[in-house]
Amino acid sequence: MASLPNVAIIELGSQYTLLIERTLRELGVRSVILDSRNAASWLKKNPLKAVILSGGASSVYNSDAPQPPAEVLSLMRQDGQPIALLGICYGMQWLAHRLGGEVKAVLGNREYGEAEINLDERGHLFFADTPRRQRVWMSHGDSVISVPEGFSILGHTDTGTIAAMARGAMLGVQFHPEVTHTPYGKTMLTNFLRLAGCENDWMPSSIISSIREDVSARLPNGRVIFGFSGGVDSTTVSAILAPVLKERLLAVTLDGGQLREGELDEIKKHAADAGVNLKVMDARQEFQSAMAGVIDSEEKRSRFKKVYVSLFVRAAQDFGATAVLQGTLATDRIESGATGGALIKSHHNVGLDMGDLLQLHPVDCLFKYEVQALAREVGLPESVSNRQPFPGPGLFLRVVGVPATPEKLAIVRFADARVREILMRHGVYDRLSQLIVAYLGVNTVGVKGDARVYGGAIVVRAVETIDFMTARGIHFSDEIEDEISTTLTRHPEIVRVWYDPTKKPPATTEME
Ligand code: XMP
Repeated sequence: MASLPNVAIIELGSQYTLLIERTLRELGVRSVILDSRNAASWLKKNPLKAVILSGGASSVYNSDAPQPPAEVLSLMRQDGQPIALLGICYGMQWLAHRLGGEVKAVLGNREYGEAEINLDERGHLFFADTPRRQRVWMSHGDSVISVPEGFSILGHTDTGTIAAMARGAMLGVQFHPEVTHTPYGKTMLTNFLRLAGCENDWMPSSIISSIREDVSARLPNGRVIFGFSGGVDSTTVSAILAPVLKERLLAVTLDGGQLREGELDEIKKHAADAGVNLKVMDARQEFQSAMAGVIDSEEKRSRFKKVYVSLFVRAAQDFGATAVLQGTLATDRIESGATGGALIKSHHNVGLDMGDLLQLHPVDCLFKYEVQALAREVGLPESVSNRQPFPGPGLFLRVVGVPATPEKLAIVRFADARVREILMRHGVYDRLSQLIVAYLGVNTVGVKGDARVYGGAIVVRAVETIDFMTARGIHFSDEIEDEISTTLTRHPEIVRVWYDPTKKPPATTEME
């Protein structure tokens, strides 16, 4: 079974962070992107072989410049060797500044775009198999003008900027090896991974085989039920395990009033695509009474979790199952605080008490984009691999500020379906990582048919992200926003529509 990645990328405000992650994955190595503000707890708990400090727009002299945790300077691998550390651009400047070198804005030495570098004769493994004079991509105002004690300078640009420095496995490069405009950048990153002792841990076909082997070994016989939402995680895990578990596996979907318009049909189709038998339990009564009067988001999650657990235990008993499978992802564990960080939100599928039932989470070390790649590998249709995520507690999390009554759920279900239709018609929906349409229980005044109305609002939010750890908010065109607002406010209970393009962090993807 896959374990958590051995490489961490600490995000310091670069536009290229996701590109670093993707390039490493293309090289067969998984990595996790950490926010500089909460990276320390991850570093303490999870063994690593390498850390990359991204670039960023700040100067080390800015009071609000992002600060990687000091631990990165002394982290050890499990074998007792120091980890490999690579600072890119701002990351290099931070290293130099922090370790006693000098960083300055040198007038005339700002480089934006292509630059030529000349490497020192002695060479360093980082530059193995690359020419001594080569083109790189630079984008910086400040430069390192003297390197810290013990570091050697590995090369300069034609204008005299220090292009790279190293002390053993601690490296800094002023340019960006992750962009294609640095033609030998991939070779350098390959060399860095070699220096770090990283093995290939991203090969979809071998991850699929190891999931099958691991589940078969832990569950040689007996029946198992699967919390099936029809999303990419549960459909992919079902498709991977259906050929192994066959009729011992039953997918169970709880219809608790949290589903979107048309979702039950889609869930049935995805179960058929994955080759699993599906049981849909009508649990609307149970969930509605559990959610009655609740506003607080953590309270909703906790109540959802309780009902979810009790219904699954019942479903397991009915099917004679001894185990429960879940499509929990690494991000669910991270955000639930299970990997050492702060509790951001308790995911309904993490840390469940299910008595004697064996709980299996075969993809809980993988990220969404990795599971999407596995979906393609097992031949699931694009409608599965490209399906946007939707949280387990579903529309319960999309009614904010007032209790999620059946009436409010109906309003948000209506709004969500109409917004999806409009975005699909404009060819925008498939480009979004996730659309979030929520009902805000803040009453505002409106005028409809010459009469005063006083009611709630709908918030429309869409994000673009690879791993849901960080996300960019999307701005829609005026034409699309007009069409959405006009369509939604035709509903008698909707007075206004608000658009929310806030980034994650500081916001999260969901409203709650
Ligand atoms: P946030 O809001 O944490 O969301 O940025 C990241 C991703 O996780 C989904 N999400 C959840 N999924 N139970 C789930 O199954 C939850 O409680 C939950 N909360 C957030 C969210 O939709 C997004 O895709």
